[in-house]
Amino acid sequence: MINQRRPDGSLRHLITLDGLPRAELEDLLARAQHFVCEPGEQPRANQSLAGITIGNLFTEPSTRTRVSFELAGRRLGAEVVNLEVQLSSRAKGETMLDTIYTLQALHFDMFIIRDPQAGVVAHVAENVAPHVSVLSAGEAHVSHPTQGLLDALTIRQRKGDRFERLTIAVVGDIRHSRVARSAYEVFRGLGVGDLRLVAPAAMMPDAGEFAGTHRFATPEEGLRDVDVVMMLRIQKERMEQAAIPDGDDYFARFGLTPARLAFAKPDAIVMHPQPMNRGVEIDSAVADGPQSVIRDQVRNGVAMRMAVLETIARPRPLRS
Ligand code: CP
Repeated sequence: MINQRRPDGSLRHLITLDGLPRAELEDLLARAQHFVCEPGEQPRANQSLAGITIGNLFTEPSTRTRVSFELAGRRLGAEVVNLEVQLSSRAKGETMLDTIYTLQALHFDMFIIRDPQAGVVAHVAENVAPHVSVLSAGEAHVSHPTQGLLDALTIRQRKGDRFERLTIAVVGDIRHSRVARSAYEVFRGLGVGDLRLVAPAAMMPDAGEFAGTHRFATPEEGLRDVDVVMMLRIQKERMEQAAIPDGDDYFARFGLTPARLAFAKPDAIVMHPQPMNRGVEIDSAVADGPQSVIRDQVRNGVAMRMAVLETIARPRPLRS
């Protein structure tokens, strides 16, 4: 596993949440909470990243992660460039590293990378100049660390910071989900009391993964008395065509309807990282209902990414 830290112990890259100590996770959550603003409020901003240039390199589609990293960087005073990969020389066969070296020569300081291939983000991190940082914006089925952090922030806002008291159910296509893996890492780091995996057999991760969780084959069993329900999309892009279930069948067995949500505690919250497929994994009555915190997750994405960028960046003096 790549070393994400500088020799002084500070966080240089963010590729995984695995092994981050609870105190560091709590510091990130507290800093992010400082940046949260309510709808209609002027967003918080500062110049802590003035002089820093950030490159967003997304080779998989994204709405929330790309836009919120861009807003986060700009609200901290950084210069942010979104590389249109399909219009860049990557489309002519240039390797990821040659693209990175080119951008480094143009004085980029941070790269935010989403890639469908496992290992690419760490490979870039191992090859950049010592002053450069690399952040994962979602890597294959492996990790999506800022999503894990913003999910923890959303739970903390509604349920408080005594994570050991919480029962959380992750429901759906866990096997192919980077969101679930980063959620597992941050929930384990924060000491969540009971973490449940609820999925059909084909969407359950291998037995060696997600140690310490409890597995359930039906939502009716797995949702009983939980505090948090985290729904997942079927990750068709990482499945064999023949293995993709029919949407109606899946909804009948696993879709989160008001009747299924009633198995959870009355004040349970419903989460979804989005994009969501209404009528497949979740009913609109739940997605838009009073227990849904799905839009809070989006709002928290900018705040959490501001906290991460600020924690990782090493501002340098401005030169005129
Ligand atoms: N949750 C999430 O990663 O959304 P995007 O794919 O739109 O970035």
